[in-house]
Amino acid sequence: MLKILVTGATGNVGQEVLRLLQFHSCNVCAAVRNPNSAKQILGSNIRTVSFDFTNPDTFVNAFSQVNKLFLVRPPALANVRQQIAPALNAAKLAGVEHIVFLSILEAERNRFVPHFKIERYIDQLGIPATFLRGSFFMQNFNTTHLEDIKTRGELLMPAGNGKTSFIDVRDIAAVAVRTLIEDGHQGRAYALTGGEALTYYEVTDIFTSILGKRVCYKPSLLKFVQQMHSSGLPMDFILVMVAIYTTARLGLAGKITSDTEQLLNRSPLTIRQYIEDYRQFWLRVHL
Ligand SMILES: NC(=O)c1ccc[n+]([C@@H]2O[C@H](COP(=O)([O-])OP(=O)(O)OC[C@H]3O[C@@H](n4cnc5c(N)ncnc54)[C@H](OP(=O)(O)O)[C@@H]3O)[C@@H](O)[C@H]2O)c1
Repeated sequence: MLKILVTGATGNVGQEVLRLLQFHSCNVCAAVRNPNSAKQILGSNIRTVSFDFTNPDTFVNAFSQVNKLFLVRPPALANVRQQIAPALNAAKLAGVEHIVFLSILEAERNRFVPHFKIERYIDQLGIPATFLRGSFFMQNFNTTHLEDIKTRGELLMPAGNGKTSFIDVRDIAAVAVRTLIEDGHQGRAYALTGGEALTYYEVTDIFTSILGKRVCYKPSLLKFVQQMHSSGLPMDFILVMVAIYTTARLGLAGKITSDTEQLLNRSPLTIRQYIEDYRQFWLRVHL
């Protein structure tokens, strides 16, 4: 039976990929740093194996008998040569036949993002691959920006009036599962966006109407950096966020493609649907 190894298994996309793979007849394994804490997140019926991109001792066991790999680059690992390539070398040695890699929109044009180098490295190794180049995740609003919305009712990101083609990670995961299970996706790259592009003014208006509480958008580079810093985020992570939001401000994040719709045979989830489904995240306290 097909064996699929899922990295980033406790993260936004990996968790949903694991959930959806349960509906298919394949042998699924979650590659996790800490099997005990992962079981608490994933439930005890998901099989886990120890795996750490930065610990080569974990590679042989994790990749044993694996046919397909769902590859997520952990956001903290930016040095591809030192922190990602060794695991890919091990995957090649173990005979992994197909990698589905969670990449980022326009990665092929942007030499500065790690995803560019990872895509190139997978191609160099000659492992058949599918690159899922995702747009900005809607779920950033209930993770990175949870407190901004829940306690302050204010988003400050320096994205100006630029539009973003937000995508729901549930759609990315559904595409990932299709490309893992079906034949015919090797050697392909998909640009995965939502079906609409919105400014943060429009997004906060939707938050306000669904949550029944005012959420404002007040773009400010200085205040954004100060607030992220005071919430304990490291400066290099904040600078990456600034770069991403600047891309939106410059009007480069609003591209809409038809790949998601074609691969799912339905329209992508809308931001309105996402906010309704995740309402409880922002309503639990302080309202
Ligand atoms: N956010 C966006 O808008 C967006 C858009 C497009 C693409 N992306 C890309 O998507 C990726 C992140 O996906 P995500 O949001 O699903 O992930 P995530 O929620 O940030 O979770 C990161 C995952 O990586 C695991 N991890 C961390 N360090 C590890 C290590 N040394 N070895 C093995 N696993 C490790 C974590 O496991 P633990 O439980 O052990 O911590 C966790 O499962 C990034 O590459 C990002 O650039 C993001």
